[in-house]
Amino acid sequence: MSEVLAFEVNRAAKYFGDLKALDDVSLSSKQGTIFGLLGPNGAGKTTLVNMLTTLASPTKGSLKVLGVDVVEHPDTVRNLIGLAGQFAAVDEYLTGEENLYMIGRLYHLNHKETKKRVSELLEDLRLTDAARRQVKTYSGGMRRRLDLGASLVGRPRILFLDEPTTGLDPRTRLELWEIMRELVKNGTSILLTTQYLEEADELADHIAVIDRGKLIAEGTSSQLKARLGGDVVEFEITNELQKDVAVAAVSGVATKKVTYNEDNRVISVPVGSHGSTKLTEIVRALDKAKIVPNSLSLHQPTLDDVFLNLIGAKASDVATTAAKLGKRARR
Ligand SMILES: Nc1ncnc2c1ncn2[C@@H]1O[C@H](COP(=O)(O)OP(=O)(O)OP(=O)(O)O)[C@@H](O)[C@H]1O
Ligand SMILES: [Mg+2]
Repeated sequence: MSEVLAFEVNRAAKYFGDLKALDDVSLSSKQGTIFGLLGPNGAGKTTLVNMLTTLASPTKGSLKVLGVDVVEHPDTVRNLIGLAGQFAAVDEYLTGEENLYMIGRLYHLNHKETKKRVSELLEDLRLTDAARRQVKTYSGGMRRRLDLGASLVGRPRILFLDEPTTGLDPRTRLELWEIMRELVKNGTSILLTTQYLEEADELADHIAVIDRGKLIAEGTSSQLKARLGGDVVEFEITNELQKDVAVAAVSGVATKKVTYNEDNRVISVPVGSHGSTKLTEIVRALDKAKIVPNSLSLHQPTLDDVFLNLIGAKASDVATTAAKLGKRARR
């Protein structure tokens, strides 16, 4: 028997008049994993989360959560999921504890069960000390944690987190990462939207990149990086005359053509994956050829490189616009 998927999006689209907020997107994710949905502002991330969590209906296509169709059985879906939306949904005038208590009762837990669950969550989210303070006195990071707590009261099997760490300081972000990892270890599935590439890189088992409503790439972080051609070892020779010997020495290790930059005397050796192993081989080859480079380094493409490459046209538009504006300002 094949295992039920955490969620399944089949040729889904959402139109707002002429605007295609999401256009013909198909995606799926296994249970017990983190799925990272990556995209710039306006890409359609929240739109997809809203459809999966029954807050918006698709214009076309179908979406299932744990095998349940979101349009046909929205109530069943709501019982399976937890959602921490992009903007905090907790009540400012209640305390943290009261907020969670109220949600517990909405889930039909009795007073005692609710109390227990609430104190567990406050503890896990390090909010025990602030539990009896009104939320309006909370910092941004505390609100986010409380919001996450609110989505966890009903012990959801799948959690939708829409930009859970946007605007948080690095330490609070790391704490939230830890909490997410812990949840997944205990069997929860997570869909996480983010604009932070390093967050997707760090957490997500599978990543989908969307831009302007379209799915533009999908895979594991290493698969996406491999699309850029893998790792590159670069070294600078001290003297132009060493060039031919150096290139010949390292060519055996290269996976693609070795290139030389005359301006800075840097030789670039594409080495595919396993860059660190190849780095050692290159050092040995240079040593054997009696070449001592000025500098030597390994470059591994980051998800940022992948992202800029994928939405490259847009990034250069931005640069051109910025340059034009700059020129105008200088006049
Ligand atoms: N209710 C709506 N009515 C009209 N247009 C909408 C509506 N909701 C979203 N849109 C549009 O759909 C597109 C996708 O929006 P969405 O909120 O899904 O993007 P996002 O990826 O979540 O962006 P962000 O990173 O800024 O949160 C945007 O162009 C947005 O203006
Ligand atoms: Mg959004």
